[in-house]
Amino acid sequence: MNRKYRKVIIAGNWKMNTKPSDVKAFVEKIRDLTVRCKWCETVICAPFSHLTVAYRAFWNGRISLGAQNLSQYASGAYTGEVSGEMLRDLNVKYVIVGHSERRQYFGETDITVNKKVHAALDTDLRPIICVGETAEQREMGLTEELISYQVRAALAGVPEERIRRVVIAYEPIWAIGTGNTATAQQAQEVNRHIRAVIRGLYGARLARAVPILYGGSMNESNAEELLAQPDIDGGLIGGASLVPEKFSSIIMAACQE
Ligand code: 13P
Repeated sequence: MNRKYRKVIIAGNWKMNTKPSDVKAFVEKIRDLTVRCKWCETVICAPFSHLTVAYRAFWNGRISLGAQNLSQYASGAYTGEVSGEMLRDLNVKYVIVGHSERRQYFGETDITVNKKVHAALDTDLRPIICVGETAEQREMGLTEELISYQVRAALAGVPEERIRRVVIAYEPIWAIGTGNTATAQQAQEVNRHIRAVIRGLYGARLARAVPILYGGSMNESNAEELLAQPDIDGGLIGGASLVPEKFSSIIMAACQE
């Protein structure tokens, strides 16, 4: 992290876990186990079904609300979809776009990811854009090329004045839910590369302002080392975000003096 230029973001991705009735107790535990800290923003990306409850439970501002997906369309006959405007109306601030699970199981492509990034920005949501390579792609030496492509495709047509609203999360697919975290050095290398891609598109000043997170088996034991890297501005956390004690430890690692 580099607190001079960017806020740290610790974002939990609950995926398809927990029930709406679990939200209140979870938030109270986090409140008890953490202290307010000015340079770290805590976010929980909850399932759609939880957002109304979470909106009320998070009201005191200690946790920002995030969603895990949004429709690429603004409104209309799209059964089962949820628009950016609907999310914004529930005080949702962040939305995950292009998570590898959506790309893998629900057919999202770089093109739909780009449409969703625009849909998020059009409705004043901050997209957390996920990029990452498979183990095979890493072994073949394709990581940098692939990540460059994913970042450029996701940001196509995003104008300069909107780039500050964007968050990128590097999530190597081989590290998600496997316990196989990228080393701090591997994660830093890719995050630095992502910043270089953004610099090429938007210039150095704006590239410095974009938070780039790491996700993939981040937990209370490895968070401190990962967050100490200059281009890792926070985490997108799956499994460990479901356990208040673990998630709080990661928040506190980001809040260290
Ligand atoms: P895990 O932390 O469970 O590996 O999940 C990471 C992730 O996919 C966050 O979006």
